[in-house]
Amino acid sequence: MSLGSPGPAAVDFCGLSLAGPIINGSGTFDAIAALRVFGDGLLEAFPFDAYVSKTITLAPRQGNRPPRLWEAGAGLINSIGLPNKGLEGYLRDDLPILTRLPVPLITNVMGHSHAEIGELVSTVGSYDQVAAIEINVSCPNVDSGLVMGADPAETAALVSHVRGLTNKPLIIKLTPNATDVAAVALAAQEAGADAVSLINTLRAMALHPKTSEPWLGGKTGGLSGPAVRSIALAQVYEVAQRISIPIVGIGGVQSGDDALNLLKAGATVVAVGTESFRDPTAGSRIGAELAAISRKERE
Ligand SMILES: Cc1cc2nc3c(=O)[nH]c(=O)nc-3n(C[C@H](O)[C@H](O)[C@H](O)COP(=O)(O)O)c2cc1C
Repeated sequence: MSLGSPGPAAVDFCGLSLAGPIINGSGTFDAIAALRVFGDGLLEAFPFDAYVSKTITLAPRQGNRPPRLWEAGAGLINSIGLPNKGLEGYLRDDLPILTRLPVPLITNVMGHSHAEIGELVSTVGSYDQVAAIEINVSCPNVDSGLVMGADPAETAALVSHVRGLTNKPLIIKLTPNATDVAAVALAAQEAGADAVSLINTLRAMALHPKTSEPWLGGKTGGLSGPAVRSIALAQVYEVAQRISIPIVGIGGVQSGDDALNLLKAGATVVAVGTESFRDPTAGSRIGAELAAISRKERE
């Protein structure tokens, strides 16, 4: 594999100094599996400028029953269901390995109540190895029944609750399945978030070609990949008009040009998601393409 072509200039992302602006989307690059396959070569030429872990929850989760994937036109529908080892398993098994990565570690967490998310944030935030925390808010609050990231007041209440529990940068990963994503982003900023990331996957569905029953074990799933790229661009642009904290632009990025569009729309860094399943070195390639475009623009 040819990882690690020279990337663009260093980026300050809410206090983290990154060697370039390309990171991964949570859940789309398993660094521990990649280390097993590629060995220490991965550490010498890591494809991203920061690493975002897969979402962890307080208790372990099995995830949804299969099938978990459906290939859609220019996209992927997944209903993985956030399988993970839980907080204890993450700290015990994964953190010591992720600490070896040559880039800052952002731990992504999700919970069903303020108390759960608060415990995740304060515990994870107490580890020096964790540079920042991303909160995935695409989940219903058991106390209110509302999806935390779909409503500005819900998001504000959550961020206010966790803000005092850590001094690590807090990134709120917004859901695109909201009426007014920019209002949610503004609520997150006003409650003390250091950055927002968007977009997560869009709610989608596929039917079994013979039975017409839902194909996915979770019935609905989340659409990602090139099919969502122009939606991501619109949402990043709109959010950037309303907030002043940094934005992680995510959605369908496959090339340096795609990354540049999100940066021009107002993102500070760009995350590569589904494309890494097709090509685990995509992050390096996209970073190098972006650097080449930026050099040309400066000439
Ligand atoms: C298979 C799969 C698993 C994902 N798992 C997570 C996750 O654990 N936590 C999260 O916040 N986002 C998760 N995402 C969302 C991605 O990080 C990203 O926001 C989304 O896929 C859009 O980017 P893309 O079009 O480049 O894939 C997942 C996406 C995919 C396709």
